[in-house]
Amino acid sequence: MKLPWAPEDLPNAAADRFGSLKPALREAGFTDDVVARRLGAADAIDLLSHSAMYAVYSALDVESLTTDTAGALIQLFVRNGPLPRDRYEHVVSAPLARVLEALALVRIDEGQVSPTVSISPVRSLYLLSDALFTTGPGDVAITMATGAGLVMPPHASSFTLLDAIRTTASETLLDIGCGSGILALASWTSCASVIGIDVNPRAVAYSRVNAAVNAIPAAFTVADMNRNPLPAERADRLVFNSPTGPRRSPETGWTSAQGALRSVVRAMGTVLVPGGTADVLVIAELPQGRALPDLVDEWLADLRGWKEVRVREVPGSPQAVSARDLASGRLSPKCLLADGPEDRARLLHSLRVRGIESVVPAVVSITSV
Ligand SMILES: C[S@@+](CC[C@H](N)C(=O)[O-])C[C@H]1O[C@@H](n2cnc3c(N)ncnc32)[C@H](O)[C@@H]1O
Repeated sequence: MKLPWAPEDLPNAAADRFGSLKPALREAGFTDDVVARRLGAADAIDLLSHSAMYAVYSALDVESLTTDTAGALIQLFVRNGPLPRDRYEHVVSAPLARVLEALALVRIDEGQVSPTVSISPVRSLYLLSDALFTTGPGDVAITMATGAGLVMPPHASSFTLLDAIRTTASETLLDIGCGSGILALASWTSCASVIGIDVNPRAVAYSRVNAAVNAIPAAFTVADMNRNPLPAERADRLVFNSPTGPRRSPETGWTSAQGALRSVVRAMGTVLVPGGTADVLVIAELPQGRALPDLVDEWLADLRGWKEVRVREVPGSPQAVSARDLASGRLSPKCLLADGPEDRARLLHSLRVRGIESVVPAVVSITSV
């Protein structure tokens, strides 16, 4: 789908016009705790980790959800569904409607208003992204987004990594694979400065918009960490929520944990200061009888430029497959690594035939020499 704004229209630090969005959304009561509560989630992180599930649960209640402004915004930008035009005009104030329409965040057809982006309120930020799924007008069906290059909302993995990194006020941070910009933007208050790169220009466009929306001075650039990681200045710390996952078929598009960590170590020499740290979230497959720290040592053994590795596995993650899941042949419906019963069965089968004992999310911290 076409972006409402061309990336080239959004040079870093420009886009003053996005500054009006955050106060308007806040004033409308569209805050993370309100959104979570209205959709029945424990909190905003739980909501974003299982957003499609909450969208389905709330489907029968859309009529009563959208009787006020916050509810209308939840329907449009969290459930990613349409709103009848008369309802929109009734509950969304004229000044808020002007902001949404001036920024092309909604599309108005004859009798219906539809969102052009997803908006995730999280902690004190608002993050625009493509929609992970869309909902129909009043039914329970949801359609998952597919297509290369889409920029997903913040996800369980984003928060796992965010909570694992401990930045200090004097450190500069480079967010590799910035996506919507969540890691850089959420770290801004605890760092000296934040910048980000992504190989996907659409992700950089969203990150720039989100920096402008949240009035954060963060620079985002299109770059491939395997070719030209190249920010002008070296950072003290880099973070990478890597697109890794179990390989049940070539079309999953996920890289291996080994590949992601080797790429990071190769890039570290050019993007980190000596002694700087990379925090990388990987989803790793563990063959029978193997422990992740030993595997990581093996994966990196022939590479130079790093001196220390620390592996912190993430227990109870919705991105894990335990040995017990594999033995019982049952994967929790809450597992985010598979989409639906057939896909869960396919994943379990693929892991079994390849002798994989478990799938483990972990934050791997690598210190450069
Ligand atoms: C799992 S997403 C994480 C997005 C965001 N950081 C978050 O936590 O929500 C991985 C991101 O890495 C980017 N990416 C993948 N390979 C890359 C590469 N070689 N160089 C730069 N970015 C890359 C993808 O485009 C994607 O935006």
